[in-house]
Amino acid sequence: MILGINCDNHDASMALVDRDNILWAGHSERYSRLKNDSILNKDMVDEMLSYGKPDVIVISDQPLLKSSRRLFSGERPIFTRYKNILKQIGLGGISCEFVGHHESHAAAGYFTSKFNDASILVVDSIGEWDTVSIWEARGQSLTRIISCSYPNSIGLFYSAMTQYVGLKPNEEEYILMGMAALGEPKLASEMIDTFFSRWDPPKIVSRYNLHKGCKWWECDNSITKFDIAASAQAVIEMYLLQTIKWMKRNLLSNNLIFMGGVALNCIANSLLAKVYPNIHIMPNPGDAGNSIGACAALTYRKLNWKGPYLGTNIDRELDIDKVIQNLMRGEIVGIANGRAEFGPRALGNRSLLCDPRGIQAKEKTNTIKRREQFRPFAPAVLSEHAHDYFDMPVGESPYMQFISKCKDAGSFPAICHTDYTSRVQTVSEKDNPTFRSLLERWYEVSGCPMLLNTSLNIKGQPLVNTWNDAVEFNNVHGVKIF
Ligand SMILES: [Fe+2]
Repeated sequence: MILGINCDNHDASMALVDRDNILWAGHSERYSRLKNDSILNKDMVDEMLSYGKPDVIVISDQPLLKSSRRLFSGERPIFTRYKNILKQIGLGGISCEFVGHHESHAAAGYFTSKFNDASILVVDSIGEWDTVSIWEARGQSLTRIISCSYPNSIGLFYSAMTQYVGLKPNEEEYILMGMAALGEPKLASEMIDTFFSRWDPPKIVSRYNLHKGCKWWECDNSITKFDIAASAQAVIEMYLLQTIKWMKRNLLSNNLIFMGGVALNCIANSLLAKVYPNIHIMPNPGDAGNSIGACAALTYRKLNWKGPYLGTNIDRELDIDKVIQNLMRGEIVGIANGRAEFGPRALGNRSLLCDPRGIQAKEKTNTIKRREQFRPFAPAVLSEHAHDYFDMPVGESPYMQFISKCKDAGSFPAICHTDYTSRVQTVSEKDNPTFRSLLERWYEVSGCPMLLNTSLNIKGQPLVNTWNDAVEFNNVHGVKIF
């Protein structure tokens, strides 16, 4: 049994794998209640041990490479004492291996996919040194083709822009992405000229190390934060599109795996799907997903991927009729049922749901979640109806990774952005039978095949994990939870 670990960067996580089966996977923040927690904790370890005892531990970083980067960049501490970390959480004495950070991203994507060959693109802010890597996968093998190294990083550029508009880097990039639709990409060319001395995707050379941001950068007073967001989004889309066109020309496989934190950018993902219709993005493509990736990178074997419901189990019977009664009254309802999603999106097991029709749903839900009012929510739709309501870039989208134009945005303002796009979750029987039954029942009584689905949390806080967390959420925010 293998325990994969991602730690010592943001989003510490663990995954327990028995041969080809992922038994369990957990994200530190859900247990410590500290968003993007970088530290492993004992509660998570105790839950992991209830699924089995690991024979070997594998960590998704190469310590010497990482230390050399830290030495170069002036980060502290230079060395991470992994043995001490493991001892502190009661896992000392188990043999420990190390695999590369980007190799873990690539392996997490490929070995959870259905593909037998693939072209793999990994883009994040920074691995040990890697910031972008391109791989070819065939059967059981992964071959690195090309990479970019720190400080040349399109991911760091996007995080620097996130910080520039007053958001938290390495955490609130998704808000910057959401802001893009409200601005104009007026500065896209200027950004490329200012921040990059070579622009030849996949190869780029940064003029500056953007690791600590770019607060020194000055732009015209008439430029809004939304224009900056739109420009940064245009730059990253340009980079990714040029890169995958390079991959299309130079690599054999027509299957694309996209991984790394940048693969959470669902607007860009939709553009990539037009070039590579056969696209797989593991639902936890960022660093937390590297706990599964580390296991895959150790064995180079396909994993039996059944879906992202791998976390803490809330073993209760969901009273679907009661949920529907509350939804029909126009209420916002919480679901905390079954195993928690491993990944940033709530996909029906730790969700807030409501009727997506009418003008009040968005404002009501944003108020409960204390989010910016401009931000829309996602729809969860019965898979067979998705194409009736949305121009889907892919056949199915069970993990909310792509955006689609809504064909009737006027009827569903809560789930449409200002550009009429929605981040759709398609729900079929194989994805989540309980959530599917709820949606089917909702369709029967309401005639509407979709629900607004957002994560069961308040902005900036981790998702509800246990039933006790759900009770606490109900006590504080007055939302009924089932
Ligand atoms: Fe990463």
